[in-house]
Amino acid sequence: MRVRVPGRETDNCRATAMPPESRHRRPLLVANWKMNGLHADGLALASALAGHAAAGEGGDIVVCPPATLLFALRAVFAGSAVALGGQDCHTAAAGAHTGDVSASMLADAGCTHVIVGHSERRAGHGEGDETVAEKAAAAHGAGLTAIVCVGESAADRDSGHALTVIGRQVEGSLPDGAAPENTAIAYEPVWAIGSGRTPGPADIAAAHAEVRAGWERRFSGSGAALRVLYGGSVTARNAGEILAVPGVDGVLVGGASLSADTFWQICRAWR
Ligand code: 13P
Repeated sequence: MRVRVPGRETDNCRATAMPPESRHRRPLLVANWKMNGLHADGLALASALAGHAAAGEGGDIVVCPPATLLFALRAVFAGSAVALGGQDCHTAAAGAHTGDVSASMLADAGCTHVIVGHSERRAGHGEGDETVAEKAAAAHGAGLTAIVCVGESAADRDSGHALTVIGRQVEGSLPDGAAPENTAIAYEPVWAIGSGRTPGPADIAAAHAEVRAGWERRFSGSGAALRVLYGGSVTARNAGEILAVPGVDGVLVGGASLSADTFWQICRAWR
């Protein structure tokens, strides 16, 4: 199967769009700032977003800044509708792990969520499914919701193995004890991240269905309550259409979350 790209497949998206009133739960809208944001810029971005969020109607919003900004942003988001998340955590609760951050440190800094298994961690730090599952377990142990990332490479999709890879990653990356109350899964095709390209709505729907099927195989139970997010080149322009694809319960946003106005448009796009 070829990667279907053209970044903004508005017509296709409309074809399978589900009316907003048929959605059964509030979406989870997550900003992943990645390694961007010095103190002053991060504060300004967070303050602007908190101002927007005061108006409400944005869904469940989580901002995942660099770890250096967590304590400062905790103060900015205090009392607002915006929650705080980490971008990664170590598998261990504490110890001799230079440069790493534990899940309990994130909780201590005000986080309620943490991303684990992002493809940039999998590729850049050699993290496999087993490690990701251990990180998710560490997150749960600290009372955090784990946002577990999965997604196929361009080669996987081109060779027709995308769904197999996604299902295998889901089954391998979830620890015992994962439940819809403490876990969300983000489907992020590697080739869509930062590329301006997105899968068509049918491919997103199929991937999300496979995520839920993988969950059901792993836990022999229903994945209906699980929130499955889409990530990869989400913009203010395509967010409404992506959020309307059946099985999409939110988005994980990188580059477009670095503008408060743009991210807020994305947060409101489901309405
Ligand atoms: P972009 O939105 O920049 O494509 O990044 C997606 C992502 O990796 C979010 O975790």
